[in-house]
Amino acid sequence: MSRMIALSVCSLKGGVGKTTVTLGLAGAALRRGVPTLVVDLDPQADATSGLDVTARRTADLAAVLDSPKRKIVDAALAPSGWADDHPGQLDVLVGSAASALRDEPDPAGKDLAALAAALRKTPEHQLVLLDCPPSLGALTRSAWASSDLALVVSDAGRFSVAAVDRALRELGEQHGAARPLGVLVNRYSPRSAEHRFRLGELRALVDGLLLEPLPERAVVQQAQGAGVPLHQLRSAAARTLSATFDALLDRVLATRA
Ligand SMILES: Nc1ncnc2c1ncn2[C@@H]1O[C@H](COP(=O)(O)OP(=O)(O)O)[C@@H](O)[C@H]1O
Ligand SMILES: [Mg+2]
Repeated sequence: MSRMIALSVCSLKGGVGKTTVTLGLAGAALRRGVPTLVVDLDPQADATSGLDVTARRTADLAAVLDSPKRKIVDAALAPSGWADDHPGQLDVLVGSAASALRDEPDPAGKDLAALAAALRKTPEHQLVLLDCPPSLGALTRSAWASSDLALVVSDAGRFSVAAVDRALRELGEQHGAARPLGVLVNRYSPRSAEHRFRLGELRALVDGLLLEPLPERAVVQQAQGAGVPLHQLRSAAARTLSATFDALLDRVLATRA
């Protein structure tokens, strides 16, 4: 079996689509039969609810960060309702509001090691997707320290260009952090002159790292509202977006040695 690969999905801003991209990749991995773990680092725990986790757990991500022992990791793992008939194919390290208390702004190196230690206790997953909070504290830095790759998600707004620049800079400066997979612009509208302008700015800023942007589509919210993978919806828009996530997953898996 090929080795595990871990991808942080991050941005310094909220509401740009980190969780949406995490869910899209999780749906693609489920289709592909790649055993996947989603780590929900955001205190809002949107990935946990989006992945239709119903099992009650006695631990959560915050408990795992406090004590990354196998027993606690196991107690914080729950199956996604998306994979009901395929146990082990899609699991969630569940998030909760408690992780907000672990997001200190200036963490010590050893605090960042706990998550990596926890992930070494789930070797059965070949892909780990880490859904980050919209902040640059201990949670996002822990994700970077535990990942092979980081995907920076952004919208096409003016303030986002500076946020992408800072995220990439901080990523490059953190010792032992993931390497950037790319910058993904979400909710992109090619008809908007402002969006086209900002995309051009981003392309100049990040050079070869800019990925094919994701369009704004109502089907994203329909899938999330129904608690199902985008891949399960049959509309043309759902299929096109699903294919984009399939291609993104291919890009992630292709980095595996
Ligand atoms: N491409 C898209 N088309 C339509 N709605 C989207 C798209 N991407 C994200 N959204 C919606 O925008 C909101 C914020 O997205 P989310 O993934 O939760 O962002 P983040 O995790 O970065 O805070 C959610 O309601 C989500 O459904
Ligand atoms: Mg989110």
